Amino acid sequence: MLRPVITIDGPSASGKGTVAALVARELGFHYLDSGALYRLAALYALREGVSWEDENQVARLAAQLPAAFHDDKVWLDGHDVSAAIRAEDIGMGASRIAALPSVRAALLERQRAYQQTPGLVADGRDMGSVVFPRAELKVFLTASAEERAARRYKQLIAKGESANLLQIQQDICDRDARDAARSVAPLRQEPDARLLDTSALTIDQAVNQVLQWFRER
Ligand code: C5P
Repeated sequence: MLRPVITIDGPSASGKGTVAALVARELGFHYLDSGALYRLAALYALREGVSWEDENQVARLAAQLPAAFHDDKVWLDGHDVSAAIRAEDIGMGASRIAALPSVRAALLERQRAYQQTPGLVADGRDMGSVVFPRAELKVFLTASAEERAARRYKQLIAKGESANLLQIQQDICDRDARDAARSVAPLRQEPDARLLDTSALTIDQAVNQVLQWFRER
């Protein structure tokens, strides 16, 4: 098993990012937050005055994305955009541009370059289906829509932001519907992915389950 890959795909606000980062830390592996790349591309387009509907121009920007991940922060063109890319409208923008085939193609090799020794944990929507189809372990991590909305709500309130639970649940459902309905790399559980429903699990329990599946291999 040279440079093994664990993929963790699933719907928005399922907690896959938190679980993936902790599994990576536990194993000493690299971590790829592929959603952050789509968010960065959406933010970059917005800042460059390019419409999210303009496939050619967004793909051009995605191919030359001046992005970096270091010091626990996300950088775009030398600016810390860690908070900016997490805004709800940028999440929506990411979901829009992620439906454009040339944008996905522009980000493909960049994501694959993360597969380095001693291993990689990658989270997103198509990590197991498209980007790393030969991954050693594929996990489809989910939770009920109510639970996911409640978690997102608590996060926003903890950050001191105002939040409306029903609106959050509606936004999450809209985003999932778009991610699942698109023709290219739709969100779905691969036949060879293990299902992890975290609705009734703590973060530690979810992390331990993934580690156990990986060690059993
Ligand atoms: O995971 P996150 O919410 O940060 O992703 C933002 C959006 O980027 C998702 O709603 C999805 O449309 C898109 N995405 C994707 N493929 C990935 C990761 C994210 O289409 N591998």
